[in-house]
Order: sequence, then structure tokens, then C-alpha cells
Amino acid sequence: GNLVNLVVVSNRVSRASANEPMTGGLAAALLPVVEKSGAIWVGSSGRLREGAQKEPFAEIEALGAGALAMLDLPAAHYEGYYEGFANSALWPALHSRTDLIRTTQDNYQSYREVNSFFARALLKFRKPDTAFWIQDYHFLALGAELRALGVTHPIGFFLHTPWPTRDIFGGVPHHRELVEAMLAYDLIGFQTDGDRDNFLSYVEADLGLEVSGGTVQSRYGAARCAVFPIGIDPAKFAAFAAKSSSHPDVSRLRRSLNGEKLAIGVDRVDYSKGLVNRIEAFDRMLTAQPQLKRSVSLLQIATLSRGNIEAYGDLQNQLAKLVSDVNGRHGEVDWTPIRYLNKGFSQTVLAGLYRTAQVGVVTPLHDGMNLVAKEYVAAQNPVDPGVLVLSKFAGAANELDTALLVNPNDIDGMARTIATALSMPLLERRMRWEAMMTKLRAGTIQEWFSDFVDALDRAHALNDTAA
Ligand code: UDP
Ligand code: G6P
Repeated sequence: GNLVNLVVVSNRVSRASANEPMTGGLAAALLPVVEKSGAIWVGSSGRLREGAQKEPFAEIEALGAGALAMLDLPAAHYEGYYEGFANSALWPALHSRTDLIRTTQDNYQSYREVNSFFARALLKFRKPDTAFWIQDYHFLALGAELRALGVTHPIGFFLHTPWPTRDIFGGVPHHRELVEAMLAYDLIGFQTDGDRDNFLSYVEADLGLEVSGGTVQSRYGAARCAVFPIGIDPAKFAAFAAKSSSHPDVSRLRRSLNGEKLAIGVDRVDYSKGLVNRIEAFDRMLTAQPQLKRSVSLLQIATLSRGNIEAYGDLQNQLAKLVSDVNGRHGEVDWTPIRYLNKGFSQTVLAGLYRTAQVGVVTPLHDGMNLVAKEYVAAQNPVDPGVLVLSKFAGAANELDTALLVNPNDIDGMARTIATALSMPLLERRMRWEAMMTKLRAGTIQEWFSDFVDALDRAHALNDTAA
């Protein structure tokens, strides 16, 4: 594969080390592989600038063998692009919550402006053998904007979220223009077969285009659609877990438990994560099986996310109230059922927290992959592994099919499954865990990265020969 002149683009970038929390799975996954590959990683700096549109400004710093380029974004358009369209029209629809769509024509204009701004800024990084790899729903139209500027290089796209059924995507204002623009990519990558199939059925039925063998023919040429489930570095998480067992946060947690069992959840506060249902299931379990009181508690790490958007602010309030209600009803002078923390931890500490917990609860209503599920498994102690309770609606359920799979809408079912996980015998825990580790080792983040880049090379070569 031609990794030398790769330009990776995402809205959020990360310069974090193993000692700082990551904001979301995309940045967490990309940082170590981009660092190693020597690629240029372009994203937003988090700063806004009045004149940005006329003259793109990027702060460049070294990142491993490559570089990080952080762009100041146009002040007039950032909010409409990020909050107004990407996260109030696309994100809800991609997670099958069209009821939460709240956007305007101006928001859509800003989204398109920022996509076109990125295209112009990217020209600076173009060399004869550059390949562009665009990440996630913030940039559905960036490939088309690059083509409009005359760029004929390979351009790939990977979607980190689910892709919903055609009727649901049809609920996004301007859905048709957006999908048409996506067809300018040589390669479109999805997390699961279901996501790719939903996309292709939209393209066939709603755009009336020809699809064969996963490839769409449009005025741009061929767009190949394929599945690349994102992975983690399981050896790294195992090493982190072993190393951090003496970290103060981890040893204090262990001491505070007094032999009591622990269930852990780690999520951004997002309606797609199924946090309300999870807390209700924990509540239901304690009501149905009061003998579990004082013998288990839930540590829920809930990092605040996208708080300026109403649906997120409302959820923050709802969860804070729900947790205090459950703790008020079930708590004892020496026991608190739910430890609810609105702060982040480094992945090193997180690995130690995962290992301390006998049960990992990952119960999204919809999730592209969910890396926390994979990290929880990789961080377990091989001789005494914990149990993963996993939503069947997380992309990770395709590979981690020996987890205890649950329907997050079935609160009673989840309550019973968490109780089952807490009492699972060692032999069964080990068998399930070994099977999951085999899958994680077979699909690491390094392979995800090189598989995509190789497939992009091939997809572009086919378009070149056809032209
Ligand atoms: N994460 C972290 N510190 C925290 C919470 C989360 O570094 O306190 C990382 C976590 O290790 C994982 C990512 O953030 O790699 C979350 O990814 P996931 O796919 O689970 O969810 P997303 O937030 O992308 O929807
Ligand atoms: C998900 C998205 C990413 C995003 C992350 C954090 O993982 O797929 O694109 O970066 O959430 O969200 P934020 O809006 O804070 O970047």
C-alpha cells in the first residue's frame, strides 16, 4: 500500500498521550496508527477565525513520523456546521432518531461551506502521489468538493457511525444531494454489512443508480462500498491494565469496594448510548433481587458531550436526576448503588478500571462499533476475566458474539442478564473471553488501517483504468 503520502481528515483530531482522556472513538482509534504511518492528519483546531475562509490557516506540529495540521475554522459557519447540521440532523438520523432532528437551511449552508473550506485547505497538502482519507459524517460532501476543484487523486471515506434504513435517512433535509455527493469517493467504508446494505438500498431505490457487487456507478465513476470493522490494539490495553493496577485511582477504587463486585459503563452522555435504559435496568435488578444490595455497585463514567445542543443538555439533566433517585431509594449508610462521574480518564487508568470490574455494561440503542466494548475485553485478567453485557445494536456485537447479548429496550431482560453476568462461573467466563480475544486479535486497528488504504489504492486504480 501507498502509505507515504496519506492525508487523513477528521473534524476532531487528538494530540493526546496515553495519559490524557480521548474524546470519542474516532480520535482514539486514529491517533496511534496515524502516528506510526507518517500520514498528515488534518482536522479542526477548535479555534474560530473571521478571515479563515479567505485564507485557511493551519497550525502544524509533528506527530510521530508524520504531522498534525489543525485548521482554524470560519467563525460564521462553525456552529451551523458542527452543532446545527452534523450533530442535529445527521447524527440523530444516523442513529435512527429522526424525531430529534432540529436544523435549518442556514445550518445546511454552513455544513456545505465548511466542507468546501476543508477542500480548499487540503490542496496545500496535495502531492502527485497523495491519497486522501476522509473520516465520518462531518464530511459527507468533502470528496465532491475536492473533485470540483479538479482533484483526481484517490479519495476514500469511512463512516464511524451506523447507516440507517432508507426511509430514516430520507428524513434528513437534503438527503439526496448528500448521498449523490458521497458517490465522488472512490471507496466508502462502513462498520458492518448492515450499514453498507442500508446505504446501497438507498442508492438503488432512491437514486435509481446501478449497483453491482457493492460498487455504485454514477456520474463520478465507480464508488466501491465495503465493510471495514474498526478494531483496537488488544495487547496495548492488556499492558495498560497490568501497568495501572497500582495507579492511585485504580487502587483506591479497589479498596473502596470492600470485596463488593463492580459493574462498569464508560460512555459519552449521548442519547444513542442507552444510558437511561441501563440505569433503569440496574434499578430493576436491585428491586427484583434485593439480596444483591451491598454486593454490587455500578461505576458509570459519563463524559459530557455536545452540551450546547438541547437534546444533550436535556439528557444530562435527566440522567443526573435518575441516578440520584436510584441512589436515594436503594442506598444505605455504607453503600451507594451508582457512582456517577462526569469526567474522563486516560486510557491507561481506564484499562485498570475495566479490569477491576467483574461486568462491563455496553448497552447502546445504536452504535457504529463501540470501542469501549472491545477495550473492556482486552483489559481483562486472563485467569479471572470479567463478563461483557453487550447490546446487539452495537457494531461490536458482530464480532463479540460470545458476550451476553441484550436488547437495550428490554429493561427486565437487561436486569436479569446483568445478574447472570455477576454470578457466571469461571469456566464459562474464560471460554467466552477466549473466543472474544481471538476475534480482537484477528482484527486490530493496524489491520483496519492498512486494509482500508490498500482497498482505496485498488478502487482508485479501477477508476483510473475506466477513465
Ligand atoms: N475514552 C477515554 N477516556 C474516558 C472515556 C472514554 O479515553 O474517560 C475513550 C475510550 O477509551 C474509547 C473512546 O473514548 O476509545 C470512546 O469510543 P467509543 O467507540 O466507545 O464511543 P464514541 O464516544 O466514539 O461514540
Ligand atoms: C463519535 C463520532 C466522532 C466524534 C466523537 C466525539 O465517535 O463518530 O466523529 O469525534 O463521537 O464527538 P465530538 O462531537 O466531541 O467530536
